[in-house]
Amino acid sequence: MAHEGRIALVTGGMGGLGEAICMKLAALGQTVVTTYSPGNSKAGEWLSSMKSGGYAFRAYPCNVADFDSAAECVRQVVADVGPIDVLVNNAGITRDMTFKKMDKASWDAVMQTNLDSCFNMSKQVCDAMVDRGWGRIVNISSVNGQKGAFGQTNYSAAKAGMHGFSKALALEVARKGVTVNTISPGYIGTKMVMAIPKDVLDSKIIPQIPMGRLGKPEEVAGLVAYLCSEEAAFLTGANIAINGGQHMQ
Ligand code: CAA
Ligand code: NAP
Repeated sequence: MAHEGRIALVTGGMGGLGEAICMKLAALGQTVVTTYSPGNSKAGEWLSSMKSGGYAFRAYPCNVADFDSAAECVRQVVADVGPIDVLVNNAGITRDMTFKKMDKASWDAVMQTNLDSCFNMSKQVCDAMVDRGWGRIVNISSVNGQKGAFGQTNYSAAKAGMHGFSKALALEVARKGVTVNTISPGYIGTKMVMAIPKDVLDSKIIPQIPMGRLGKPEEVAGLVAYLCSEEAAFLTGANIAINGGQHMQ
C-alpha cells in the first residue's frame, strides 16, 4: 500500500484505538500527528514512550468538540508539519445511561465530541484536500450506530450521524480525489470497553459476538490504513463493519 510522504492527523491518538492507528500509519510511511484533550496531563509521557518505541509522533492539544480549538490545532499542524492529506476522526466518548436517566449534559457531551467533531475537524482540512486533488477522511463510528445499544441513545445517535455526514461529504468531493468513509468497529478491547460493568460485558455483550472475543485495536488500524492508501481511491461513502460477526448487513 503506497502511503509514503502523506501527512496524517489522527484525533485521540493517545487512546486505545487511536494509538494503534497512529502506529500503523507511521509504519507504512506516513508522517503522523495526533491530538489530545487540553486537560490531558499525560501527553508528554505518551510521546516519550512512543519515541522509545521508534515512533516520532507530534501531538497538539485540541478539544474536538469545539470549533475554534479544532481550527487552531489544524492551523498549527499545517504551519509546523505541512498540509494534511489524511484525517482520521477517531476521538470519542461514552456517557452510557438508560434514556430514563439520560440528562441533557450527557446527551450534549456525546453529540459534540463524537459528531460535531467531524464537522469541526473536517471543515479545517477538506477544502485544501480538494485544492490539492487528494485526500482521505475516515470517521470512526461504531456497531452501536448501526444497530443501537442499550444505554446509548446519545452514542448511537451520534455514531449513526457520522455515517450520514460521511455519505453527504463523499458525494460533494468524489470528483476531487478525496474519499470519505466510515468504519464501524464492534467491541474492541480498549479502556472504553473495559469501563462496561464486567457482568454486563460477560453476560450481555460477549455472547452476542459470534467470534466470542473482543476485537484488537490493530485489527481496526489495518482497515483504517487500507482506506487511507492510494489503492482505496475508488472506495468512498462506505460504512465498513468490523465486529467479529456481531452485526451483519
Ligand atoms: N441488554 C439488555 N438489558 C440490559 C443491558 C443490555 N445490554 N444492559 C443492562 N440491561 C438490563 C439489566 O440486566 C437490568 O435489568 P433488570 O432491571 O431486569 O435487572 C436493567 O437493564 C438495568 O441495568 P443496570 O442495573 O446496569 O442499570 P444502570 O442504570 O445501573 O446501568 C447501563 C445501565 C449504563 C446501560 C449499564 O448497564 C451499562 O453500562 N451497560 C453497557 C452499555 C454498553 O454496552 N456500552 C458500550 C460501551 S463500549 C462502546 O460504546 C464502544 C463501541 O462503540 C462498541
Ligand atoms: P479511548 O481509549 O477512550 O480513547 C478515546 C480518545 O478520544 C482519547 O485519546 C481521548 O483523548 C480522545 N478524546 C475524548 N474526548 C476528546 C475531546 N473532547 N477532544 C479531543 N480528544 C478527545 O477510546 P477508544 O476505544 O480508543 O475509542 C476511539 C474511537 O473508537 C471512539 O470514537 C470510539 O467511539 C470508537 N469506537 C470504539 C470501540 C471500542 O470498542 N473501543 C468500538 C467502536 C468504536 P484524551 O485521552 O487526551 O482525552
